Amino acid sequence: MNHKILDISNQEAITRLFTSVFTSSEGEKEGRMIGYLASKLSSRTDNKEIICFGTCEEGSIIAAIFFTRLRFDESIQVYMLAPVAVSTGHQGKGIGQALINHALDELKNRSVSVVITYGDPSFYSKVGFQALPETTIKAPLKLSMPQGWMGQSLTAEPIPSINDRPICVEEFNDPVYW
Ligand SMILES: CC(C)(COP(=O)(O)OP(=O)(O)OC[C@H]1O[C@@H](n2cnc3c(N)ncnc32)[C@H](O)[C@@H]1OP(=O)(O)O)[C@@H](O)C(=O)NCCC(=O)NCCS
Repeated sequence: MNHKILDISNQEAITRLFTSVFTSSEGEKEGRMIGYLASKLSSRTDNKEIICFGTCEEGSIIAAIFFTRLRFDESIQVYMLAPVAVSTGHQGKGIGQALINHALDELKNRSVSVVITYGDPSFYSKVGFQALPETTIKAPLKLSMPQGWMGQSLTAEPIPSINDRPICVEEFNDPVYW
């Protein structure tokens, strides 16, 4: 099992992975929606604005995760982690946590200051995320589940308060994901 940066050549495999994982866990409609999102994100993965990390086993991608840049007026480097998928047959074996921790180390090496996610606090709290009040950092769009807005600092400093509302990549600029 190894971790690597994925690119557009992996678009089909990434789309298949997200579609099947989210169809199994959330149903067909959600599977199609997240599969489409993963397909669009992977078509524009540039390892800068949109970064995709994967876990491979015997030549197949068994887990993948996207990080997308959140842009603020100031030049601070902030990324959002979403979505993440571990293939249904490989879940619950530590693969998701290992991939996230590997990716966070990589981002730390790139001098990223803060990583934010939006999801289930019971999972993301296992990999260092804590509830992030919007008085500290706002979400780009209105949140339907504010308790899922979470963040972690990758520096020695706590997460700084930032006044302006960030701009997310265009793929996430749709209320359906929030
Ligand atoms: C959520 C997911 C990425 C976790 O990856 P994983 O490899 O299965 O998880 P790990 O084995 O690394 O970690 C397991 C821990 O997370 C918890 N966990 C796993 N999936 C969870 C979920 N969907 N919600 C909450 N907690 C979850 C388990 O209780 C377990 O806790 P424990 O170690 O204390 O027993 C994976 O199960 C998955 O792809 N699920 C379907 C899609 C999804 O929900 N994606 C996340 C939202 S974007």
